[in-house]
Amino acid sequence: MKDFIYYAPTQVVFGALSEDKTGKLVKQYGGTKVLVHYGGQSAERSGLLDKICRALEAEGIAYVKLGGVVPNPRLSKVHEGIELCRKEKVDFILAVGGGSVIDSAKAIAFGVPYEGEVWDFYMGRAHAEACLPVATVLTIPAAGSEMSNSTVITNEDGDLKKGYSNNLCRCKFAVMNPERTYTLPNYQTACGVTDIMMHTMERYFSHDDDMTVTDAIAESILRTVKDSVFEVLKEPENYVHRAQIMWAGSLAHNDLTGCGTTGDWATHQLEHELSALFDVAHGAGLAALWGSWARYVYKENVTRFAQFAVNVMGVTNDFKSPEHTALAGIEAMEDFYRAIGMPVSICELIGRQATDEEIKLMTDKCSSGGSATTGNLKVLHRDDMKNIYRMAN
Ligand code: NZQ
Ligand code: ZN
Repeated sequence: MKDFIYYAPTQVVFGALSEDKTGKLVKQYGGTKVLVHYGGQSAERSGLLDKICRALEAEGIAYVKLGGVVPNPRLSKVHEGIELCRKEKVDFILAVGGGSVIDSAKAIAFGVPYEGEVWDFYMGRAHAEACLPVATVLTIPAAGSEMSNSTVITNEDGDLKKGYSNNLCRCKFAVMNPERTYTLPNYQTACGVTDIMMHTMERYFSHDDDMTVTDAIAESILRTVKDSVFEVLKEPENYVHRAQIMWAGSLAHNDLTGCGTTGDWATHQLEHELSALFDVAHGAGLAALWGSWARYVYKENVTRFAQFAVNVMGVTNDFKSPEHTALAGIEAMEDFYRAIGMPVSICELIGRQATDEEIKLMTDKCSSGGSATTGNLKVLHRDDMKNIYRMAN
């Protein structure tokens, strides 16, 4: 097992009616003037937003609201938030929503105390030394941003989707009520589960083979959500299975399944170019690419893919060859994506194939013009990226 430091400081408040505790929690973490940040409609429509505002008022905490965060959250909204927070002297940011809202909240939190342009952090041109406290009331299990140290923002100028990681932006607390996810459309539920599984798989597919405990946790998360998703697609108000998925979403991306492993992350990097260019849901983009990535790289560690096939996908080891088992696992994963309504190609994702120019554009961006690689299981250069996009097309 590789050496590691595990840091997961977010206080998780999980369960039915947990959102009622939000006011007290903000007070506990010293918030006196809050930005309540949210998305398009779901939090308003469900009455959650009102509930949160009442919970703040009950504690005598002042707040301002800023909604309108879209999936693949935009830099322009971040700028709007920074300006509002400065004007209103906000000292605490509360994200009511999913990964997009939380990531936008984190970006605003970095931007308020910073005199320069917040986008510099995402471009690697500066490193943040300060960040307003951020917390969330989570409404969709997917991105894992409620416990992660990352924020992913899209700059409309050039369709650049970039992540920035820094422990300062980890949420102080995450309120998670599985009942709040009952209203999710099946497509978003499936996108979320795909992302949760992929956060686990990105860490699982590595060259580090001596990590029994971490593997066991990872495989359990994968098997659990793989089963629970069918229950909630059939019965959206199934508390037990919504709860499994919600907790799995945090465990999948709070680094627990990364302890002792190197991690790959190529599928994520390749996907970010898809969602930047075509504005698709992140989870669906991952499903469209994963099978092609897996077939391209599995020979780097065939036994790992065979282990995944047997322990996660339930493939019977027929002892023909590890390669045979590994490939059967990849196929089983793609069958799973199909069964939950996810695309397994770019064509299925966007309704047509990507053109040669679009593939070139994504490849150039992902490889920073050929100067950067991605992935660790197999280090991918510009031509490898192009090959994978073509296979997935
Ligand atoms: O905007 P509203 O109306 O709220 O609708 C949202 C949105 O359309 C809807 N939704 C959320 N909760 C709902 C609901 N609809 C009904 N009932 C509810 N309870 O779901 C849609 C998707 O929301 P979004 O926040 O975009 O989803 P997700 O959590 O998947 O976040 C995706 C973003 O996170 C980034 C992705 O790249 C993408 O930009 N990621 C962030 C990471 C991180 N910070 O650690 C890691 C991930 O790998 C990922 O890259
Ligand atoms: Zn993801």
